Amino acid sequence: MDSIEAIPAQPGTRLLELERKIKELEMENRRLEITNYELTNRIRRLESELKKLKSEPLLVGVVEEILSKGKVIVKSSNGAQFLVNSLINVLPGDRVAMNQQNLTIVKRLPRERDRFVKAAEVIERPRVTFDDVGGLDRQIQELREIVELPLKNPQIFEEIGIDPPKGILLYGPPGCGKTLLVKALARESEATFIRVVGSELVRKYIGEGAKLVKQIFELAREKAPSILFIDEIDAIAARRMEETTGGDREVNRTLMQLLAELDGFNERGEVRIIGATNRIDILDPAILRPGRFDRLIEVPLPDEKAREQIFKVHTRRMKLAKDVNLKKLAKMTEGANGAEIKAVCTEAGMFAIRKGKKEVGMEEFLDAIEKVIVYAEEGEEAVYYT
Ligand SMILES: Nc1ncnc2c1ncn2[C@@H]1O[C@H](COP(=O)(O)OP(=O)(O)OP(=O)(O)O)[C@@H](O)[C@H]1O
Ligand SMILES: [Mg+2]
Repeated sequence: MDSIEAIPAQPGTRLLELERKIKELEMENRRLEITNYELTNRIRRLESELKKLKSEPLLVGVVEEILSKGKVIVKSSNGAQFLVNSLINVLPGDRVAMNQQNLTIVKRLPRERDRFVKAAEVIERPRVTFDDVGGLDRQIQELREIVELPLKNPQIFEEIGIDPPKGILLYGPPGCGKTLLVKALARESEATFIRVVGSELVRKYIGEGAKLVKQIFELAREKAPSILFIDEIDAIAARRMEETTGGDREVNRTLMQLLAELDGFNERGEVRIIGATNRIDILDPAILRPGRFDRLIEVPLPDEKAREQIFKVHTRRMKLAKDVNLKKLAKMTEGANGAEIKAVCTEAGMFAIRKGKKEVGMEEFLDAIEKVIVYAEEGEEAVYYT
């Protein structure tokens, strides 16, 4: 405005010229405002497109080679290679997620190995010892012979010229100490203990069971001497049925991989494989063939003497009154498993606490048995609640 006023007021052309100039500038301004509006819109559109690009479901691939100008060669999971664009910086070997439509790389994924290894529970030293296991002396001795000996002294087998049994399968009803036994074994034999649970693998890693089995065996070899414990193995090694659903096919693939890993395993003793199941009846016979899980160890329901020992284990740290008779308790709990006996001991302790007692007496144990184990009418089988 100042500059306009500063111009001497000359009538005629000069004024007109300036007015025209103002109009021009106003129009230019409007044009720019429109462009600005359009560009803002475009940014918004691109942002939402980018968001769409990044949203699931995405394809997974592995970066093979980096070319110039954000161009990358990617190998997809089915083996085909693609030349794609990348929105981020990547390196060869990275696992990446790509948009389904145009295969643009939108993000980098964690290394597959790290993710899989998380599925296995690597316990270097479990806290359980053989002293915590009641009444399975024969099983403990057998396990020591076929697991500990080859781990500690592989040369003994080499000298004689035989391979120690490859896989050991513990089987028997629930709650009788299979998992407990293997934990104690891992502690005593000073090997790395790797535990995977079959039912969890099937649930958490749908579609990847076979890959996972492969990685876990690799891990076991890396951490040798090690004990690879596959608990609840029936979830991945059930008898192969007619494949009717995708889920069945998936379980079958996992089983095939497990068999392949077992067959490819020739180390003398550095890695021991132990499986456990309470459903040996549904296992695929292929898994029990020589050279696979070829040593079966039964972990049965405890008999009277074993029950007494289990009572001993679980009352070891309890303050017991003089009248407590573990022999009698063992006699009374015919048919109970180890887990139930443990529950009886805990419950007896709870009764004592409720009564404000300083020690746990026979009375509390009897009440606990009544609470944990409900007997049926005479002549019928007992029913147990845990
Ligand atoms: N023989 C035993 N001695 C001492 N405690 C036992 C024994 N058996 C079972 N228990 C107790 O019961 C708990 C459960 O046992 P464990 O998990 O070993 O059973 P399992 O045989 O593996 O059962 P599942 O087939 O259901 O997996 C143990 O943590 C332990 O406290
Ligand atoms: Mg178990």
